[in-house]
Amino acid sequence: MTQLLRDTDPKTAGIAAALIRRGELVALPTETVYGLGADGLNPDAVAKIFVAKGRPQDNPLILHISEPKELEKYCRDIPGSAWDLAEHFWPGPLTMVLPARDIVPRSTTAGLDSVAVRCPQTPVTREIIRLAGVPIAAPSANLSGKPSTTSAQHVLNDYGADGPLAAIVDAGPCRVGVESTIVSLLGERPRLLRPGGVGPEQLREVLGRLEVDQAVTGLLSDDAVVRAPGMKYKHYAPRAQVIVVEGPSETAAKYIRPRLDKNSAVLCFREELPLYGGCQTLAYGRESDPQTLSAGLFAALRELDRDDISTIYARCPTGGGVACAVRNRLLKAAGFRTVRAEETL
Ligand code: TXA
Ligand code: MG
Repeated sequence: MTQLLRDTDPKTAGIAAALIRRGELVALPTETVYGLGADGLNPDAVAKIFVAKGRPQDNPLILHISEPKELEKYCRDIPGSAWDLAEHFWPGPLTMVLPARDIVPRSTTAGLDSVAVRCPQTPVTREIIRLAGVPIAAPSANLSGKPSTTSAQHVLNDYGADGPLAAIVDAGPCRVGVESTIVSLLGERPRLLRPGGVGPEQLREVLGRLEVDQAVTGLLSDDAVVRAPGMKYKHYAPRAQVIVVEGPSETAAKYIRPRLDKNSAVLCFREELPLYGGCQTLAYGRESDPQTLSAGLFAALRELDRDDISTIYARCPTGGGVACAVRNRLLKAAGFRTVRAEETL
């Protein structure tokens, strides 16, 4: 049976750390999403993650550390920019890709000689990593192909209580709600591989220049060089076809309303609810406060992931900061399929 542990119980960190040391799988809360954790230095434990999630073997994992200074243990040739980023954003929703030391098993990095490292913010998880005495490898805890998990209940829904997880540590809903920002520091210039909790402007303030990988902005062609292997898979997608409808609220509603039937739903901003009276609607946050959109996005996608919904018309925030990440996740769920409402009227 999967143990359900609360972050508020003083025994939780010790129990979870012991399970990790024994090579078991433990779902862990972070400020971004729940992760599916295992001892990142133990190839057998890491192999369990891939099996449990149904994750392709060539998609590497993020190594989670309890203190920024531990970066040195697992990475080599660390540039000054990495320490600058660590100082500004760790602990927090930022992942850095750097050359891996030999101590990191190639099963964690999916055979690459680089490794992605992150120091998460959630206190109980940092304490578990510290007590385990090993870095914890953890992808987002969702089953492969499902929207990410932003609550312990999402994890339980995906795996059940008799499944492969030894424990789930519950610290309530995730504050950020979308995954960490990933920056590669392997090349001459820092490169954004995935937008996330830290916005591109914040990164530029620290780094100066920042290249944006093509995987962030559009679908990759089959022969494209894939720098973040995970980017080539269609992630975050519910069963339904998602169509992102762009433009001002009223214009978008004029496009969407006549197309709605009992098998379609609108995923919109709270401010827009009055435009969709009588329709199947789910508001995932407030347009005026993008943080509420990022916190609510995956729970909403999970809620709409039902057999009777075949089309989701989604409204997407514009602007920087965490709105970039919300936009990226929705565009990916839509396979980058968008409609500009004003051009259709
Ligand atoms: O917020 C997060 O980052 C969450 C929490 C649990 O920390 N984790 C997460 O992991 O989102 P995952 O596995 O769902 O996404 C990790 C991404 C994948 O797209 C993977 O391909 C990429 O990071 N990645 C991992 N190692 C890499 C490497 N050495 N080079 C390039 N990309 C890498
Ligand atoms: Mg994931």
